[in-house]
Amino acid sequence: MKEKVVLAYSGGLDTSVIIKWLTKRGYDVIAYMADVGQGCDFEAYRRRAIATGASKVFVDDLKKEFVEDFVFRALKANAVYESGYLLATALSRPLIANGLVKVAQAQKASYVAHGCTGKGNDQVRFEVTIRSLDPRLKIMAPVREWEMKTRSEEIDYAKKNNIPIDASKKKPYSLDVNLWGISIESGKLEDPYYEPDENIYQLTKGVKDSAAEPVYVEIEFKEGVPVKLNGKWMSGVDLILRLSKIAGNAGVGRSDIIENRLVGIKSREVYESPAGWTLLEAHKGLESLVLDRELAHYKEAVALKYAELIYYGLWYTPLREALDKFIDYTQKRVNGVVRLKLHKGTCRVVGRKSPNSLYREELATYEEGDKFDQSLAKGFIELWGLPYKGSYKNKA
Ligand code: ARG
Repeated sequence: MKEKVVLAYSGGLDTSVIIKWLTKRGYDVIAYMADVGQGCDFEAYRRRAIATGASKVFVDDLKKEFVEDFVFRALKANAVYESGYLLATALSRPLIANGLVKVAQAQKASYVAHGCTGKGNDQVRFEVTIRSLDPRLKIMAPVREWEMKTRSEEIDYAKKNNIPIDASKKKPYSLDVNLWGISIESGKLEDPYYEPDENIYQLTKGVKDSAAEPVYVEIEFKEGVPVKLNGKWMSGVDLILRLSKIAGNAGVGRSDIIENRLVGIKSREVYESPAGWTLLEAHKGLESLVLDRELAHYKEAVALKYAELIYYGLWYTPLREALDKFIDYTQKRVNGVVRLKLHKGTCRVVGRKSPNSLYREELATYEEGDKFDQSLAKGFIELWGLPYKGSYKNKA
């Protein structure tokens, strides 16, 4: 009996070549495809996997789980890596790895395989997750070990072995796509001074082509989760898809950063996440109305840690779960409506309201009806500054 390997299959060149490479080495390859909203033709890829030598193909629709259990947790945390990355790719990896492990267990496979290179973060995310879920599974990462060094060598291998691919030798960029966003790397982007061509962007319009007039959107949150768009209830998946169109049309959602990878290298990354950045602004805008100062400030530090955990592949860990408990507690108050104005790549909160608002107009106002007793300020300042009274007197 042949040993079974369940492969995380994307339908692209690398993982197609892996199917062949493993079957040639005597393995029974089962292809696993997770649908996280990449919008590809799964049926065509199913046929391709079989034509390449896979014995079975599983297509797993994980869109709802991805949004509800991963993306919205990151949103509640306001997780952003290095100020520019909403973690779309990073969030999908533990979920895909989880699906891969389940299929491997059901199929009684002793191996799982992925198509990540040895230079990226994704290999870490996949393997840390697989090991934490089922340490008995053996992991294969053919791209890290095989003799093919370049894309063009892989294409030659594919041609020689009649692997159906649609890749050309010149592939300008590497793309990873899901519901939360797109990650674009390599090719000309490897020069950090090079400004990306307009045509690399898939979801967002540039300043010139984006809508001439500002567009307003209204988002309602329930316990930190967006539930309505422009007054209409919708599922998380639908809300992201619709908002992505609206925000992308207004040119909102691009970022272009030099990023510190987990494996120590810096890389140039271009991201698009039109719904993501809009929801993040909206969520932060609502939190500013309903969270008290100390909690809000502390939560900003948690956001950084949470983003790191996601980026570092540490989703299935006690710290992430503990932080989720903290975050969920803070989100009980995060109910209300935020109005945003999107225009030519900018996205600004222009209004917010909530039944849990801590804003008190009678305290803030400089107009009639002021209830703030200004005489109290004098004593407060005296005590606040007491430890430092005179402490700088003799300093230059
Ligand atoms: N740098 C990003 C990350 O590490 C994007 C990775 C894109 N992955 C890919 N296989 N193309 O999350």
